[in-house]
Amino acid sequence: MVLIREKINQLTDKKVWLAPLAGVTDKSFRTICKQCGADVVVSEMVSADGLLYSRERSIKYAQFTEIQRPFGIQLFGSDPLKMAKAVEIILTKNPDFIDINMGCPVRKVIKKGAGAALMKRPEIAGKMVSEIKRALSGVHLPVSAKIRSGWDKFNINVIEFSRKLEDSGLDIICFHARTKSQMYSGHSDWSLIKKLKENISLPVVGNGDIRTEEDAIEMFSTTGCDSIMIGRGAIGKPWLFMEIKKVLKNEKKQDIDLKEKFNIIKEHCLLAIKDKGETLAVREMKTHLSNYTKGFNGSSKIRNYVNRSFNMKEILKTIEGLYSE
Ligand SMILES: Cc1cc2nc3c(=O)[nH]c(=O)nc-3n(C[C@H](O)[C@H](O)[C@H](O)COP(=O)(O)O)c2cc1C
Repeated sequence: MVLIREKINQLTDKKVWLAPLAGVTDKSFRTICKQCGADVVVSEMVSADGLLYSRERSIKYAQFTEIQRPFGIQLFGSDPLKMAKAVEIILTKNPDFIDINMGCPVRKVIKKGAGAALMKRPEIAGKMVSEIKRALSGVHLPVSAKIRSGWDKFNINVIEFSRKLEDSGLDIICFHARTKSQMYSGHSDWSLIKKLKENISLPVVGNGDIRTEEDAIEMFSTTGCDSIMIGRGAIGKPWLFMEIKKVLKNEKKQDIDLKEKFNIIKEHCLLAIKDKGETLAVREMKTHLSNYTKGFNGSSKIRNYVNRSFNMKEILKTIEGLYSE
């Protein structure tokens, strides 16, 4: 019991998480964010069915390196018993916690009754938590769930839903305060994060729309959440974690210079090449690379070039040119 408490504290005591972002937060990006100061990182979402049928892609998504600890594997699925079975497989990977996806709004996922569809079925969601905890009995591994505010603005059920998960044995709530219908539009309603925190005893990780160190401080101070989670704000800007950690330590705000930023980008590219080989690394890094070139003079021309090129050395030379101006 003490052991799991300590593990939960390691994840929630004023920590800064990198959010799971399918297609973005792969192994190399997670490592870069970790090196920049992210305290906790999570895998991209892994299909429970995929794991049960030994699908290579699902197994690959669950892989991580030691530097990424504490590391969570995020699972999605709709059947509590299958999810519990998938957890047994995941245990062989030795992660630090398991996260259950209860917030994905993508049609393909919802159609199967997974992701945010679970918020319409609190009984199933609760059973999922209790079955997963049962599969983990004696292992002392925290279980978190990543949820939204509810299905749509007429069905905001985050408080009752979270209570159900808490009663079922959940350890941590990660809360992206948008409804499923909002997808990524509008704003994350931070007043709901505050309300959740006031109405539940589980640690709450607040999420949605943190783009700067000021946002991070504001999320902590206005909601009372235990930790924060950053997704899109870190794309093209992994050094955001450095900036946030500095202000959280009450150190003076200090801009990171262009040279240091370029070195981080270069390291990211090299890690990706090491992980997947150059061709795949360039292809899969297009989102990152174009975000690294945003905001500079003539950046759309440069992005066009980066999008057409398959030579990482050339791409890096172009980006270095931008970052040395
Ligand atoms: C491209 C993309 C992929 C995402 N993939 C996942 C995912 O695999 N699992 C998940 O729980 N949330 C996923 N999300 C949601 C994010 O984790 C996060 O909750 C959301 O982007 C709001 O936080 P932000 O404003 O800091 O980005 C994804 C979001 C985006 C934009």
